[in-house]
Parts: sequence; structure tokens; C-alpha cells
Amino acid sequence: MSASLFFREFLTNWQSVGAVAPSSPALAERMMEAAGIWKANHVLELGPGTGAFTAAIRDSLPKHSEYLGIEINDGFAKQLRERFHGMNFEVAGAQEFDFASYLRGRPPFDVVVSGLPWTAFPRSLQESILENVLPHLGQGGSFATFAYLGFHQLPSGRRFRQLLHERLHGVETSRVVWANLPPAFVYIGRKAKETH
Ligand SMILES: C[S@@+](CC[C@H](N)C(=O)[O-])C[C@H]1O[C@@H](n2cnc3c(N)ncnc32)[C@H](O)[C@@H]1O
Repeated sequence: MSASLFFREFLTNWQSVGAVAPSSPALAERMMEAAGIWKANHVLELGPGTGAFTAAIRDSLPKHSEYLGIEINDGFAKQLRERFHGMNFEVAGAQEFDFASYLRGRPPFDVVVSGLPWTAFPRSLQESILENVLPHLGQGGSFATFAYLGFHQLPSGRRFRQLLHERLHGVETSRVVWANLPPAFVYIGRKAKETH
């Protein structure tokens, strides 16, 4: 069901969906490990799609932790709300969502899990999403995202990696997850702690 909805949406919105199939459980597990989801207080997921990472977040997130998913595709968001009761989804572009208003009275995010297809995005969109999101990641918080093997060498993939290195501390790459279509790896970085 998820895979067929995903593929249908890919055929009509290929540039924003950016993949032919949802991420695999193996990639979801690698993302959770990298992000340290088991100790998170407030998780932001960008581009949850049909919920491949969302299910893993739900299964690992400590009780009483909070979650927000930002999904631009309202068909995906409708299905996510039906499937994941008690989790909060907003239909918006990650580049334009008003995080400051949403976070009023709530703790900042300490983990961002991104399923966005960064390599399919122009530089301006890569930058505007990072500029809108990263100010709301608490100091020392983690930012986890993935790249498809090979695609990371395209100019847009290299540019995105460079942006991560410029904006985050200690960016690392995981081992390749071969059990994914296409094989992929995880980038993990942290928001630098301010030193006085
Ligand atoms: C490659 S799919 C990944 C879906 C899911 N996280 C997974 O790993 O299977 C990218 C997702 O990002 C969403 N998306 C694309 N551009 C977005 C944007 N600017 N803001 C929020 N979501 C976006 C798409 O609608 C799609 O659901």
C-alpha cells in the first residue's frame, strides 16, 4: 500500500518525492542509530512521506517525547495522520513553516530526521530549508539525513554535503546500507554548542 501510493506520487511529483520507493527498514534503523532517537525529547521529521522513518521513530522514541512531521504532500499527510495517531503532522514546505510560532511554549528540537530528496533540490531550496530549520535545533542537537550512493557525487549532492559541513559540527557519514533501493548512507552532524 505504502509502496504503491509512493510510486504513484513519484509519477506525478517526481521532483519533490525524489525516490521511486520508500526507504527500507534497514535504512530507517541506521538513521535512528545515527540520530540517537531513543534519548530524544523533541523530534522534527522533514518529508515523512509514507512513514518509513516515522514508524521507526514511533517505536524508539521515549514516552512523553514530542514529534512533529512536516510534509509538503497532502496525500501523504492524510495517510500519515490515519496511521500514526498521537503524532503531529503539518502540511507545509520545510522552507516556509513557521517553526517559531509552533515552538512557543515547547522545547526546541533536539533531533532532526530528514527524508528530503536534497539532491533533487536547487541550491536556493537546500539553503532556505537549512536556514529555516537549523535555528530551531537546540545546541548539541543532531541532524540526520541520507543520500543515495552515487547520487551524492552529482553537483547538487556535493553542494549539499558542503552546506552541511558549513552549518553543522563534526559531520560524519555512516557505512552504506545496501538493503535499500537505491543503496544509501546517512549523514549525521550536530548543532555546535556556543562557547563563551
Ligand atoms: C525521498 S521521499 C522520502 C520519504 C520517506 N521519508 C522515506 O524515507 O521513505 C521525500 C519526501 O519529502 C517530501 N518533501 C519534498 N519536498 C519537501 C519540502 N520542501 N518540505 C517538506 N516535505 C517535502 C516529499 O513529499 C516526500 O514525501
